[in-house]
Amino acid sequence: MQPVLARGFQYGLGIFTLTALIGLANATKLFGQLDQNTLLTHLHSGTLGWITMGVVTVAAWLFGTTSPRLAASLGLTALATAAYVLAFWSGYFPARAAFGAIELVVIVAWWWWVASRSLSEGLGKISNPKVAILLGLTTLVIGSTIGVIIQIQFATNTVTQQTGDLIGTHASAQIGGYLILVATGIVEWLLIGERRTTGGVVQSSLLFVAGLALAGGFLAGIQPLLLVANVVQIVATIVVVVRLGSAMMATKWVAAGARRFAAIVPLYLVIGVALVVALVQQLVASGGDQSKISQGLLHSVDHTFFIGVMTNTLFAAILLATKDRPQVWPWADHVVFWGLNLGVLSFTAVLVFVGTSSGASAFSHPVSFTAPIMGLSVLLGIATFLQRLQPQRQTMRAAAPA
Ligand code: HEM
Ligand code: HEM
Repeated sequence: MQPVLARGFQYGLGIFTLTALIGLANATKLFGQLDQNTLLTHLHSGTLGWITMGVVTVAAWLFGTTSPRLAASLGLTALATAAYVLAFWSGYFPARAAFGAIELVVIVAWWWWVASRSLSEGLGKISNPKVAILLGLTTLVIGSTIGVIIQIQFATNTVTQQTGDLIGTHASAQIGGYLILVATGIVEWLLIGERRTTGGVVQSSLLFVAGLALAGGFLAGIQPLLLVANVVQIVATIVVVVRLGSAMMATKWVAAGARRFAAIVPLYLVIGVALVVALVQQLVASGGDQSKISQGLLHSVDHTFFIGVMTNTLFAAILLATKDRPQVWPWADHVVFWGLNLGVLSFTAVLVFVGTSSGASAFSHPVSFTAPIMGLSVLLGIATFLQRLQPQRQTMRAAAPA
């Protein structure tokens, strides 16, 4: 991996610190109930600052860029993302719209770069992970365009009933389309490498269609489309498990390193898709009224994908990128792996079976005791990986005589 790519991961980890700190405040309720602006900051610092910053860094790594402009591109992406996250925190609608539009331009630029690299390699030849990332970023462009439309409606005071449907469309495209696709692509790359197979292309095509059907179903309120999306998503998830099953089974879960973080991701895909199916069932039962969906279930879906699927995936990529560097705090690998996964599993189970902690007082809800296991493991991961990614110091150490 080119040293400049370490910077991309460092920017992502830096912004993720804010996500985790707000998450801890929300879990413990030490500062009372957080306002909507802070919750949206938690959400988009995680999805854009951590996840999307990480995904574009992996895309640059996978597509093997040697562009001298890469450092500047990663820096500008981080800057635009940080500005957009702060705009959410300010709660000032014109700033949210302006910086959201800038963020969209950045996202389109990355999509364009990946699309042109794929075209020059040949769409019929690019490997399975590249197909997944290309299709995933395509859905990201669609979902983010809808996000900017929502921001403009807020900024121009033209919010209608349709705005609620647009928010559902935006969230389902980003999670049900973009995240699932990029995660399956990156995990396949980490576990079995780059290959082009019919199974891989079919899997990504199904996931792409399912994501669009889910988003289209929310947009137009067509419930049968949501059910079709669910069926396609279930089939595609079975394909993922069958294709990656033997690599998962061969994993030594007690051994440190990238592999176990990648190999656990299909488990969360299965749980996540089951939760999305449950969510669609609730929506259908309520006659399409999104406000009737259980908040606990919704937040459980969110963290299954954001932490279970994406944070495990990106931690795996970072561990692979730093495997030949001095292993600062080697013990931390085990604490982060077990803490992150036991934390997210217990937190999301509480959200499903007990419900949201919204409105609870400090330390009065089981979320206060489960989410911090996940949050503190994330903070330990951030501190450990930031040090291992430090290029200068590593080079000096590597150059020193043994
Ligand atoms: C340029 C990129 C993006 C823009 C412009 C954007 C914009 C928005 C806006 C305007 C809202 C509604 C805020 C409100 O209720 O006041 C929202 C909510 C949301 N966004 Fe984004 N967003 C972007 C990227 C993402 C990404 C990458 C993800 C996930 C991977 C994501 C997931 C969500 C979710 C889950 C919600 C909450 C929906 C709900 O309340 O149920 N967004 N976004
Ligand atoms: C990529 C990372 C993350 C993303 C995108 C994310 C996203 C979200 C979203 C969308 C919500 C719902 C907010 C609302 O009420 O409208 C939420 C709530 C919450 N988040 Fe996160 N989160 C992330 C990481 C974390 C971490 C690391 C923690 C660590 C403690 C955490 C703890 C919480 C808690 C406790 C809630 C309240 C859940 C409830 O009781 O309903 N999150 N998060």
